[in-house]
Amino acid sequence: MQNNVFGIDLGTNNIKIYNRATDDIMVQKNMIAIENKNQLFAYGDSAYEMYEKAPSNIHISYPLSNGVIADIKNMEMLIHFFVSDLQNGNVKPADFVVAVPTDVTEVEKRAFYDLVKESGVKGKRIMVVEKAIADGLGLGIDVKNAQGVLLVDVGYDTTEVSILSLGGIVLSRLIKVGGFRFDEAIKNAVRKEFNLIIGGKTAELVKMSFGELEEGQKGVVVYGRDIVTGLPVEREIPSKLVQDCLKEHFASITDNVKMILERTPPELAADIYRHGIYLTGGASQVTNLAEHIHQGTGLKVNVAQSPITTVAEGLARIIKDDNYKSVAYTIEGMSK
Ligand SMILES: Nc1ncnc2c1ncn2[C@@H]1O[C@H](COP(=O)(O)OP(=O)(O)OP(=O)(O)O)[C@@H](O)[C@H]1O
Ligand SMILES: [Mg+2]
Repeated sequence: MQNNVFGIDLGTNNIKIYNRATDDIMVQKNMIAIENKNQLFAYGDSAYEMYEKAPSNIHISYPLSNGVIADIKNMEMLIHFFVSDLQNGNVKPADFVVAVPTDVTEVEKRAFYDLVKESGVKGKRIMVVEKAIADGLGLGIDVKNAQGVLLVDVGYDTTEVSILSLGGIVLSRLIKVGGFRFDEAIKNAVRKEFNLIIGGKTAELVKMSFGELEEGQKGVVVYGRDIVTGLPVEREIPSKLVQDCLKEHFASITDNVKMILERTPPELAADIYRHGIYLTGGASQVTNLAEHIHQGTGLKVNVAQSPITTVAEGLARIIKDDNYKSVAYTIEGMSK
């Protein structure tokens, strides 16, 4: 019998695993909770549930930072648990296709391969593919034939801006702006404006919901701690405050898109102009970002249907469609 194949998109915030056997994508928080320094307490969504609420002997963290592996041991453990869960605890030999960021060193790319190899998931053939290529495929673009595709993936820690052409990456830029920075900006603005300390999860909720309330001119109700009295209070955060504090980050994304456009070979510009920009990644859903990029560049902006799973959907296409297999490769020095 042929091995099963898994496609892994190791996001800083969410890990996504495509399972060929069930044709499904699993999405879980890329988080681990360790009790008393060395005992596993929880992982994935259940670790996230406890985040910012756990006592000090339970350490909850993201093993990935800025798209690269910061904590190898815990990341290996997480991959093992997730892949094992997908096989009902019975780990069988399988093949893997792993998405890697483009604008990082070869050593950092290789680390993704080593991670799967060493995680105890019985990886037979382990291939890697550039995240931007998988993103393009996940968006339904025929990346092998398209001449000039501008992709913007706004994730948790980073935003990757890439130009693809004929199945390869022409230009790519990784900037340190994403959903996490948006949350921090909201936290800081609320603290400054209302003397109120809110947690990261509350800030994230504000970020996700302020757009809906904007039309009604209402604010988002949050709970936090008053800096002056030290007591818990409820406040209504006006959506304008949220919009204003995010502007700087929106501008930095738009500026980077413009910078990449300036360096794009003119022969590719025709396709980009015709098709517009493709915007994906979970944090790209934040209200008004697409509009900001559109205003700043004058180009049409196509937003993804399922921005969180675009890369994983691309991996699924590579795994299922022989036509796209060639975009995945082994890094030199990797054992086949
Ligand atoms: N509806 C929404 N509006 C705004 N932001 C959202 C929404 N849904 C999710 N997000 C944000 O998307 C981010 C996670 O997106 P995603 O899963 O694409 O990141 P990631 O792949 O883990 O990160 P990276 O690619 O940087 O490693 C989080 O910051 C989350 O708050
Ligand atoms: Mg991502």
